[in-house]
Amino acid sequence: MNNPRQNWIIYSIVTVVILVMSTEIIAFINAPNKTTPVLKKEEWTAPSLFTDRTIQGEERALVIYGEELIANTAKYLGPNGSVAQITNGMNCQNCHLNAGRKKWGNNYGAVSANYPKFRDRSGSMESVFKRVSDCMERSLNGSALDSNAREMKAMIAYIKWVGHAVPKDSTPKGSGIKPPEYLERAASPEKGLVVYAAKCQSCHGANGEGQMAADAKSYIYPPLWGDHSYNTGAGLFRLSRFAGYVRDNMPFNQASHESPALSDEESWDVAAFVNSRPRPAKDLSKDWPNISKKPVDHPFGPYADGFTEQQHKFGPFKPIVAARTGK
Ligand code: HEC
Ligand code: HEC
Repeated sequence: MNNPRQNWIIYSIVTVVILVMSTEIIAFINAPNKTTPVLKKEEWTAPSLFTDRTIQGEERALVIYGEELIANTAKYLGPNGSVAQITNGMNCQNCHLNAGRKKWGNNYGAVSANYPKFRDRSGSMESVFKRVSDCMERSLNGSALDSNAREMKAMIAYIKWVGHAVPKDSTPKGSGIKPPEYLERAASPEKGLVVYAAKCQSCHGANGEGQMAADAKSYIYPPLWGDHSYNTGAGLFRLSRFAGYVRDNMPFNQASHESPALSDEESWDVAAFVNSRPRPAKDLSKDWPNISKKPVDHPFGPYADGFTEQQHKFGPFKPIVAARTGK
């Protein structure tokens, strides 16, 4: 092994490898703009912090912290949270998959391009701060953070970064939740129970209670109803949001928008079942100041269209749409 000639060959090879690698790295660092994905409206893919060198320093640190908070919310803000104890133990990522970067997984792709925007639920212009606070108060059945809190700033910075390449006022395909086709009949909690037992219960539990991780700080499988779940003011409490989210994403890792594991009927029925189970209530008296703007599946009256609360909750929705649009 101590042959000087052999060593010389090894040294040369190592030197060449180091030279090639450092040229590559320098080229990579010096060309931040080339690594920013060029995005067409139709084909949004989430950015990656590994390749995006456009943000640096404190801004980058904030985005990284924001992603961590969205993926592991309970660890910081849950009932045993290290920063504050203000949410129910769920993570934002439970409903915004892959930290809000998954196509058809209720991602944040459209947020940066569309906020601030007017929303009929509040009847006002809403900032990203207001929208995040809404999910904290409803989906996480907790309370919001101050707008100056580092955690709030970080989540907003991250959410804006996720959609930073999307052109203003456009909504990329695959963002948010796409509801399945409306059924001709009302969705059925009884049929949904059968779907639940066969396809959901193994992870989410016989009583929708989910399953805690060994550290008892966060869920491996989040709850679907009961005291620790989202409240009646949450987006998922509307049947179309629940059905759309579940059709494209559940059972976890076994379904996708392109190849769902549930039929449209099963998705609506399991939504009807889960959203018939008990869960925390939220005072919604300030929502929808203009009641004629309530979505067809908003489950609480009063309504401007004469249909019952029962029909607005479970459908059939087509007659409501027809009465509203004349079609
Ligand atoms: C129980 C499920 C759930 C949880 C948990 C949850 N959200 Fe949401 N979130 C939703 C639903 C449903 C919507 C509405 C999607 C739609 O209507 O297309 C939404 C919408 C949003 C939007 C607006 C998206 C858009 O394109 O307009 C933002 C921003 C947001 N959530 C942030 C958060 C943050 C941050 C957290 C954690 C602090 C969180 N959410 C936790 C279900 C959830
Ligand atoms: C293999 C286990 C598994 C099965 C089966 C499964 N889920 Fe999930 N589900 C998960 C996991 C894990 C998450 C959270 C994902 C994350 O945080 O990345 C989740 C999240 C959810 C959420 C959003 C968070 C919440 O708790 O409200 C809903 C709604 C949901 N599942 C409904 C269903 C329904 C309905 C079925 C049956 C059709 C189902 N799931 C089947 C594992 C599963």
